Amino acid sequence: MPNRKSSDAERGLVETARRVLPGGGFGNVPHEIVIAGGRGGRVWDVSGNEYVDYLLGSGPMLIGHAHPEVVAAVEEQLAKGTTFFANNEHGIRLAAEIVDAVPCAEKVRFVSSGSEADLYAMRAARAYMKRDKILKFEGGYHGMSDYGLMSLAPRQSTNFPRPIPDSAGIPRSIRDEVLVAPFNDLETVASLVREHRQELAAIIVEPMQRLIPPKPGFLEGLRKLTADNGMLLIFDEVVTGFRLAYGGAQEYYGVVPDICTLGKTIGGGFPLAAIAGRADVMAHFDKGAVGEDAFMMQVGTLSGNPIAAVAGLKTLEILKRAESYDRIFANGRALIDGYERILQDAGVKARVVGEPALFDIVFTDRDVIDYRSAMGDQDAMKRCNGLLREGGILKGESKYYVSLAHTDEDIRFTLDAFASAIAEIARMRAA
Ligand SMILES: Cc1ncc(COP(=O)(O)O)c(C=O)c1O
Repeated sequence: MPNRKSSDAERGLVETARRVLPGGGFGNVPHEIVIAGGRGGRVWDVSGNEYVDYLLGSGPMLIGHAHPEVVAAVEEQLAKGTTFFANNEHGIRLAAEIVDAVPCAEKVRFVSSGSEADLYAMRAARAYMKRDKILKFEGGYHGMSDYGLMSLAPRQSTNFPRPIPDSAGIPRSIRDEVLVAPFNDLETVASLVREHRQELAAIIVEPMQRLIPPKPGFLEGLRKLTADNGMLLIFDEVVTGFRLAYGGAQEYYGVVPDICTLGKTIGGGFPLAAIAGRADVMAHFDKGAVGEDAFMMQVGTLSGNPIAAVAGLKTLEILKRAESYDRIFANGRALIDGYERILQDAGVKARVVGEPALFDIVFTDRDVIDYRSAMGDQDAMKRCNGLLREGGILKGESKYYVSLAHTDEDIRFTLDAFASAIAEIARMRAA
């Protein structure tokens, strides 16, 4: 990283991390940067390098870091106590806000992470349907549970619907409980649903899978297939919830599932996630409603935590204001248009994939419609991300999260950095 300063303090922390953390990190992103703070659409590291931030904490900081109104609301609650286990006003208000906003949400159960939300959503579907199998899509991210880690990022291709576990330590038997289909391929899903209709409890899908928008009719087709064949449709809206629209992907694409999962944005930067859905399915969290045998045990020490709920409520209040989504989408469109122009001018074959609120480029000249077509040239991708980091842009491996807090200056700076990175990649390819 020739442009990046590296201080003794940061090098010391990286060394300590290598000593005490497996792989030298928290398991999320490359470890050579230690973040010291963030404000608005920027973060800075311990060595004093500043970045325009498209990592956004992997999505939660949609309105920007340390938003003064969120900070004030959290500070007020901090002095009143930080967790109670029992019901609290802010958690109840947040649940009511979710019910008002999200089309499928009649009842809400809070947990602390998206992984947990997905685990319980699938379990609720199995409890409701009294069947064990779940259909998911290759490349679909539904957290770290045994079911979720089937064919999330398979390194080799197998025939559908056979799942490939992405992790050691998953019982072999789970492979028999998960069917995998290609995203955006309704025909394959329809034939699997017909073949396994007596065993399938649900289809779980990211309505926009990672970066890949659904083809017209795909989500509508899933809705009809699941309803016609008597199984549930789960939307994993951990990323898309309150991001693509206030009502999430189900509002944005106009298809309402039976259950959804939410996370990231609704916790305002604190650990909070939720399962939300039809009252008769959510009734399985209530022993009084469904009885001992159909009851789903679910308890969490920090569920509905008041600090997270206050931060989430304030974040949603800010998102609900006139023009918040217009601004997020205008930022995203300016980046996407600029990126397409830069790639075309440089003659580099890559596609910009996604929606304005989150997108990335894929180094390919094919249409990107599913996991396999989204792979592209991974080396070029890594090189591009590294060059961007040197140029002061922080992002995840394969996603730009766009923020309400990104300024016109941030966008201009990003486009300049991207133009330099792409020029370098074009030079390397020509050499
Ligand atoms: C679509 C989706 N579902 C679930 C999760 C898991 O959420 P968490 O990291 O809060 O466990 C993620 C995390 O990025 C996600 O992108």
